Amino acid sequence: MRRELDGGFTLDDDPRRVDVDAVHAFISQESYWGAGRPRELVESAIRGSTRVVGLYRDDEQMGFARAVSDGATVAYLADVYVLGPFRGRGLGLELVREIVDGGPLAHVWWLLHTADAQVLYSKLGFTDAPPVHPTMERARRSSPRGESGGAEPRLRSSLPRP
Ligand SMILES: CC(C)(COP(=O)(O)OP(=O)(O)OC[C@H]1O[C@@H](n2cnc3c(N)ncnc32)[C@H](O)[C@@H]1OP(=O)(O)O)[C@@H](O)C(=O)NCCC(=O)NCCS
Repeated sequence: MRRELDGGFTLDDDPRRVDVDAVHAFISQESYWGAGRPRELVESAIRGSTRVVGLYRDDEQMGFARAVSDGATVAYLADVYVLGPFRGRGLGLELVREIVDGGPLAHVWWLLHTADAQVLYSKLGFTDAPPVHPTMERARRSSPRGESGGAEPRLRSSLPRP
């Protein structure tokens, strides 16, 4: 899938096109959920995702989103971003629209965590109504390869409590 957007931007779901260094730089240095995440972990998360969508201009990575799914019932949306100078012009909405509605996962139950972008997701059918059943989480742990558990618990503490 390749979709052209106004302003010379392109959405593309080819995982080979992803600039892992650029995604790692944003996640590890600028995101509130993945500060300090090692490059190897970012790369294996990209490779292991069911679908990735990149936002590009002139082959430069301007944004990213990835989904993890069983392909049938449920998908989790993660690592969504648009670089700072390009925000506020509808690119984030198109990026999320593409990964949620543009591919083979449009019919499944979607989950995500967000600290402040509820408005964006609500435009695509997400709701922040309390879940029917309580959500439980288990923090990521060190992998057998010695990768650190990382900073994901920060997300939990930064989320508004229900
Ligand atoms: C969240 C993010 C991807 C949105 O990208 P964007 O290109 O600025 O979003 P858009 O311009 O398409 O915005 C679409 C709508 O969502 C709203 N919105 C976007 N980001 C928002 C935010 N952080 N808080 C509240 N509303 C937000 C916009 O106001 C707009 O609504 P409107 O048309 O009614 O004004 C971008 O701000 C970002 O990368 N932030 C840092 C990383 C992050 O927080 N990622 C999300 C983790 S779940």
